[in-house]
Amino acid sequence: MKETPVLQIDNVSKRFGGLQALSNVGMSIEHGQIVGLIGPNGAGKTTFFNVITGLYQPDSGSFSLVGKTYSPSTPHEVARAGIARTFQNIRLFGDMTALENVMVGRHVRTHQGVLGAVLRNRAARREEAAIKAHALALLEFVGIPQFAQRTARHLSYGDQRRLEIARALATEPLLLALDEPAAGMNASEKESLRSLLLKIKEQGTTILLIEHDVKLVMGLCDRITVLDYGKIIAEGTPAEVQQDPAVIAAYLGGELA
Ligand SMILES: Nc1ncnc2c1ncn2[C@@H]1O[C@H](COP(=O)(O)OP(=O)(O)O)[C@@H](O)[C@H]1O
Ligand SMILES: [Mg+2]
Repeated sequence: MKETPVLQIDNVSKRFGGLQALSNVGMSIEHGQIVGLIGPNGAGKTTFFNVITGLYQPDSGSFSLVGKTYSPSTPHEVARAGIARTFQNIRLFGDMTALENVMVGRHVRTHQGVLGAVLRNRAARREEAAIKAHALALLEFVGIPQFAQRTARHLSYGDQRRLEIARALATEPLLLALDEPAAGMNASEKESLRSLLLKIKEQGTTILLIEHDVKLVMGLCDRITVLDYGKIIAEGTPAEVQQDPAVIAAYLGGELA
């Protein structure tokens, strides 16, 4: 019997005025895989992320998270349900340190409410210490422990992207959704991103990856879905998708050659 997918998405549509950004998009994301979502600029990839993370309400569609009905609502609820994401345009707290940025992500998974944090009682202090230790371990995991005390805005672009991943991982997601994590990275940064994503996969976290770098996507993903003008034009293994005439046409042959 087939394992229940981490996230099953059926018939999602989203319209902005006269523009049909997503038309009946469906996807089944299996546990432990890296699933790629590719397509030309404006294809609807980020809109799809915004829909599954509750930033946009779809016009239609249904979701099932590990077999249970899932209705993406507030970002906090989405994180609690087990989906974490990064953004195409990096969204960090620029004036906070790298460590603090990850600690903020971690608060989704903790018990002490705001009141506990204010009263600073013993349980709250103990939890805060655990949050800090966990955040440090995540900075180590993504490869930037040396920048724990540096303010986020003073990190290089590539390191800010890693920090975003660390913050997303702090929620202990079932599904990590990454919107163009390699954008603006040089070749060696891309190479370490590649190993980082494989490490995340190895520890059992499922990844949904939007990425423009075709070589990176083809080398990393187990399955790939291709969007064009809001519609799925292909789905399959990297080898299948790469040879698909509709995909080649959408990319005008260039990037996939
Ligand atoms: N909030 C919005 N309001 C109006 N149009 C939008 C909005 N968000 C995205 N779009 C439009 O939807 C289409 C898909 O955009 P997007 O999902 O960002 O594409 P991609 O990430 O694949 O490049 C584009 O034509 C874009 O201009
Ligand atoms: Mg986008």
